Amino acid sequence: MTDLFSAAHARALDAHDPLCGLRDEFLIPKHAGHDQAYFCGNSLGLQPRGARAHVEEVLQKWAMEAVEGHFTGQAQWMPYHELVREPLARVVGAQPAEVVAMNTLTVNLHLMMVSFYRPTRERPAILIEAGAFPSDRHAVASQLSFHGFDPDRDLIELEADQATGTISMAAIERAIAQHGHRLALVLWPGVQYRTGQAFDLKEIARLAHAQGAMCGFDLAHAVGNVELSLHDSDADFAVWCHYKYMNSGPGAVAGCFVHGRHANTNAPRFAGWWGHDVNTRFRMGPQFMPTPGADGWQLSNPPILGLAPLRASLDLFDRVGIKALRERSQRLTGYLEQLIDARLQDVLQIVTPRERELRGCQLSLRVSGGRERGRALFEHLAENGVLGDWREPDVIRISPAPLYNSHNDVLRFAQAVENWRHG
Ligand SMILES: Cc1ncc(COP(=O)(O)O)c(C=O)c1O
Repeated sequence: MTDLFSAAHARALDAHDPLCGLRDEFLIPKHAGHDQAYFCGNSLGLQPRGARAHVEEVLQKWAMEAVEGHFTGQAQWMPYHELVREPLARVVGAQPAEVVAMNTLTVNLHLMMVSFYRPTRERPAILIEAGAFPSDRHAVASQLSFHGFDPDRDLIELEADQATGTISMAAIERAIAQHGHRLALVLWPGVQYRTGQAFDLKEIARLAHAQGAMCGFDLAHAVGNVELSLHDSDADFAVWCHYKYMNSGPGAVAGCFVHGRHANTNAPRFAGWWGHDVNTRFRMGPQFMPTPGADGWQLSNPPILGLAPLRASLDLFDRVGIKALRERSQRLTGYLEQLIDARLQDVLQIVTPRERELRGCQLSLRVSGGRERGRALFEHLAENGVLGDWREPDVIRISPAPLYNSHNDVLRFAQAVENWRHG
């Protein structure tokens, strides 16, 4: 019988994996002179080797051409954000005019809610998941207050109904049906940051729309991680960041999707000159005329240095395709799950759903014995060059990223847990 825990087995899995070589496209941090087993792509993805050249190209252009850089040569700054539009649309399954790279996630969430959260006295409520990422909760609560509503009454937070802390589709359906007549907006994660649970976005949008509510998605943990079909999902809007699985650097410029049916909406928006009709922007007129599509929500001219690494990242996504990447991701996370099930169940409880379509690459692992024990294991892992991340009170998140993690990395995690238990 195959010994799942043998180094030879992990090496063989890597050797037969056609995408294992992608790892060479990344700079892997070192621990004691060797590659770290880095599982924090859910927080900050690693640097693609190509990123530096794109950043240096901008610095060089600035040095040589200064203001002319907006209009001359390759990768002109004026239409720079257009360089990422099509590859980004491929990653999220959207039409090119439906996506734009701009701002940061929470800023985009507010901009989207200005247009697509239009509460009335009869229909003021927003539905989110309980335990949502704090920034999302702050954003929706502050929007409710801004419109004169009371978050204590009109922010509906759906509690988990599964023993592991995840939320069933039946519970979502019940909540949308129960509160439907009062719901102005359903804001849902593509992948929940704490549990790693992935959701059927198309179904959630269908349920929200059937009740007359708008539907938006926070895809921070989904983009570059699971296959998305944003256009077909029929969401009204979506927002995400590019510093996690999109590997575009700390605080990278974020992404935003506005469904094509809203391309020419008259809904109110907070406007800025970069969202003005691209054909007349430089006439510098006083009246705002939005450019059609997602571009019409831009405010400022884009931070070119911030956008540059995204180009390197998107080159890699285009080279592999999200479908093949997702298949590799399922193999890697499946191996992690097998190793835990085989020998580590007394230490780690898998919180993330077991069904492949209900998760991305991340497994959230509850450490038995509580916080102190969990912290001790987490620190032992870090001392041994295995970097996951910690979520209070007792969860370690391990996210094998299919662009750069290997089966050998996954084995190193499992071995380190075993050694700690025996230690
Ligand atoms: C699910 C989710 N939403 C929102 C945010 C906040 O993102 P930002 O700081 O880019 O606005 C994060 C950050 O990690 C996140 O994970």
